[in-house]
Amino acid sequence: MKKILILNGPNLNLLGMRQPDVYGSTTLAEIEDQCRMHAKTLGVEVECKQSNHEGELIDWIHATRQSHTAIVLNAGAYTHTSIAIMDAISSVERPVIELHLSNIHQRESFRHTSYISKVAKGLICGLGAHGYTLAMDAALRILEEEG
Ligand code: DQA
Repeated sequence: MKKILILNGPNLNLLGMRQPDVYGSTTLAEIEDQCRMHAKTLGVEVECKQSNHEGELIDWIHATRQSHTAIVLNAGAYTHTSIAIMDAISSVERPVIELHLSNIHQRESFRHTSYISKVAKGLICGLGAHGYTLAMDAALRILEEEG
């Protein structure tokens, strides 16, 4: 069965409480529930994981190797710093949809650089929590094209 891994990085466990003016008031648990419901309508398996630790995120990316899994990745601030996560994505050769709740290009200049964008299939940003289900639609399309 096709599978989508929803992977959230540092500080995203605080969604709903963290800078709601920037990231909205929806909690991560609510976003993950929406993703699970959406997975049922799409007929795919979904797994939702969050970590504040770079190495753990990398281990989970490695675990998708040789599976029929696409990854929706909000790497949080690691987006702008982590060559290691970029290399992990290249190593597993699984399709990644990069996601950000906020529009990173309208924010501080240090957020304009994304190491994830260099290896991701595509990018959704600035659409808030709704971006996650949109990213799942894109991920499924990519998995279907893979055959
Ligand atoms: C974020 C944007 C990043 O710049 C920031 O460090 C985050 C969240 C977003 O979802 O908008 O932690 O990835």
